Amino acid sequence: MTRRLSARAGAPGARILGFGDYRPRRIVTNEEISQRVDTDDEWIRTRVGIAERRFAGDDESVVDMSVAAAGKALATSGVLAQDIDTVIVATCTPPAPIPGLAPEVAHRLGIASAGAFDLNAACAGFCYGLASAADAIRSGSSQNALVIGAEKLTDWTDQDDRGTCIIFGDGAGAAVVTATDSPGIGPVVWGSDGEKSRAISVADRSSFMEMDGRAVYRWATTQLADSAHRACKLAGVDISDIDVFVPHQANLRIVDSMVRTLKLRDDVAVARDIVTSGNTSSASIPLALTAMIERGEVKTGDTALLLGFGAGLTFAGQVIICP
Ligand code: UT7
Repeated sequence: MTRRLSARAGAPGARILGFGDYRPRRIVTNEEISQRVDTDDEWIRTRVGIAERRFAGDDESVVDMSVAAAGKALATSGVLAQDIDTVIVATCTPPAPIPGLAPEVAHRLGIASAGAFDLNAACAGFCYGLASAADAIRSGSSQNALVIGAEKLTDWTDQDDRGTCIIFGDGAGAAVVTATDSPGIGPVVWGSDGEKSRAISVADRSSFMEMDGRAVYRWATTQLADSAHRACKLAGVDISDIDVFVPHQANLRIVDSMVRTLKLRDDVAVARDIVTSGNTSSASIPLALTAMIERGEVKTGDTALLLGFGAGLTFAGQVIICP
């Protein structure tokens, strides 16, 4: 006889209670980079939109940055570490594949015995993590989750390759997600195109990142708008209801192209954190949102559209209600 197993009943919805970030101390300007490789401030600002980025030092590991960002998110949300039961670290730049970083992050935060795992969906990682946390809460596996996007991309970037060294930076962002009656995280629209898996890759453990920037640029500016519209539809909102747009910070021209294609309202608050943070992969969305909240550009209750995309190729987008 095939047994019928019982399922756990979860909360009707999940929502974000607070964000936190960690930005490494060292600021690296375009001028500094142009002393090493053949580039200049004007090219970088015009083609990518970056003025400066942060490089992590030896005492700023992916775990260190995750712990700092998550500690701030916990303080902002008012949730105690002991009440967190799930820790997800989205990263594509762990120093080694084993062990995963999430258990150590949980331990250092004083979270005992949490479900803890790493997730690699590259620059879409934070949105994948948020969706996983929300689904875990809706299915009853979790009550309070920490979702962290953290990267030390400089470990995997050839600082003599002007095609990549100008773009990438380091940092971490985090969100505390909790069970709620009224959903504050809409259904995710996620997907991938593995045919383009070589567009951004690290060949082996002794290699640096290689990127076909033009191919990724074309894909991001032509293929993702439909997914953003579907994320809105699934959340039951119209694109005209969106108050805040936070796409992955890959290139300011990609951000501006998406704003035009999506026909967002003129008064929408758009994340442009890339100008001072560079491209921080899975950290870019929570880094940007934390800064926008702290500057007062985003208010409690605002409706925000998040859209992550990158290596894989992977993408994921969802609508959230801002804490
Ligand atoms: O987060 C993961 C997802 N990643 C992305 O979404 C990245 C998307 N792609 C991009 O952001 C852009 O493609 C880049 C910023 C990476 C490159 O900008 P581009 O406008 O696509 O430049 P390109 O690669 O087409 O290169 C144009 C020219 C080339 O010279 P030639 O062949 O035309 O003589 C490059 O050698 O610009 C040259 N170039 C540079 N010149 C000065 C490339 N990098 C640099 C540089 N400084 N740093």
